[in-house]
Amino acid sequence: MRVLAGKVAELPEGSQVAVEVSGVSVVVVNFEGQYYALRNNCSHKDYPLLGGDVSMGRISCEKHGAKFELSTGKAKVLPAVKAVQIYRTELDGDEVYVLPL
Ligand code: FES
Repeated sequence: MRVLAGKVAELPEGSQVAVEVSGVSVVVVNFEGQYYALRNNCSHKDYPLLGGDVSMGRISCEKHGAKFELSTGKAKVLPAVKAVQIYRTELDGDEVYVLPL
């Protein structure tokens, strides 16, 4: 079941928003014109990824600096070693949706 993340106009490049997908918080990121969605929870400790710095296709956890690849959810920088769950994004007209993979 897909969930509306927002209108394209509300999600410009560099923006982030968190939405609930089946009771799980998911962060949606517009990075270089592509939408990515990951579980909004660092795999190191219980900390949200929303608002973390995004660069080189990775989102940082602001708590201890781990970085996760937007396209795969893989942990690329310690102290996180486990991946975070990724979700699918879908563009439908001028709306962005998130759905489980
Ligand atoms: S809680 Fe994210 S790096 Fe520690």
